[in-house]
Amino acid sequence: MIDKQSPLPIYYQIQELIRKKIDKKEWQTGDVLPSERIFAEQYEVSRMTVRQAVTELVNEGLLRREKGRGTFVAEQKFTQTLQGLTSFTEDMKERGLKPSSRLVSFNVKEAAGKTARVLGLNDGEAVYEIQRIRLADHSPMAMETTYISKALIPGLTKNIVQNSIYEYVEAELGLAIGYGEQSLEAALAMKKEAELLEIELNDPVLLISRITHLQDKTPFEYVKSAYRGDRYKFSIQMPRNEQK
Ligand code: GLP
Repeated sequence: MIDKQSPLPIYYQIQELIRKKIDKKEWQTGDVLPSERIFAEQYEVSRMTVRQAVTELVNEGLLRREKGRGTFVAEQKFTQTLQGLTSFTEDMKERGLKPSSRLVSFNVKEAAGKTARVLGLNDGEAVYEIQRIRLADHSPMAMETTYISKALIPGLTKNIVQNSIYEYVEAELGLAIGYGEQSLEAALAMKKEAELLEIELNDPVLLISRITHLQDKTPFEYVKSAYRGDRYKFSIQMPRNEQK
C-alpha cells in the first residue's frame, strides 16, 4: 500500500510495490501492467507519479514499454561475474538453463592481420572462423565469432562447435586452458547482429573481445562477441588494494 505520510517518495513506494509483485511472481515475464490511469486511480496518486516510477524501472530493465501496446514485465537480465574463465556452456548450465548454438558459418581461412597477431601465427597459417548464435533455453543471448588456430586445436567439426569448444579442448584434446584477457564495450546492434539476435537495429549490445591462452601461455582462441544488452549484466568484485 502507498503511505502518503511516509518520508519515502511516492514514486519510490510504487516502484517497490511493482518490484515485490515481480519478485513474488504475481506478475511474470511478458505480463502487461495495468495502465497508468488504473494504477493512479487504485493508489490515489497522480499519473505523473506513476509514469516517473515506471520510467525508472524501464530504464533499469525490469519493465519494457512497447509503443501502443503498454508496459510489460521484461525478461530478467543474467548477471555474469567477470571473475574466472568459464565457457558459455558452463555459464548456462550453472543457471539451470539449456545451452545450445545455432551455427551461422564454419570456415577454415588463412590467418591475417590482427587475428594472426593475437594468435601468434604467421599470415597464411590456417585458422577456423566460427560464427555461432549462443542460446539459453532456445532464446538468443549472444553472437560469437571465434578464431582458433587449426594446428593447435585440430579436428574441430560443425558438430563439435555446436556444443562446447572448451569441453573439446580439455576433454578430447587433453589440453589445459589457462587464462583469458577480455574487454567490454557498449555498441548498437548492426543489421546482421540484430537479425540473428532477434532484436531491433540499433538496440544496445555489449561487445566482448576475448583472447584465451592455454596453460603454457600459447593463445588458442580469439573471440569477438556481441551480447544482448537487454539480457546481460556483468558484475565484478573489487577488493581495494592495501593502503600504504
Ligand atoms: C564464452 C566466451 C567465448 C568462448 C565460449 C566458449 O561464450 N565469451 O569467448 O569461446 O564461452 O564456450 P563453449 O565452450 O560453450 O563453446
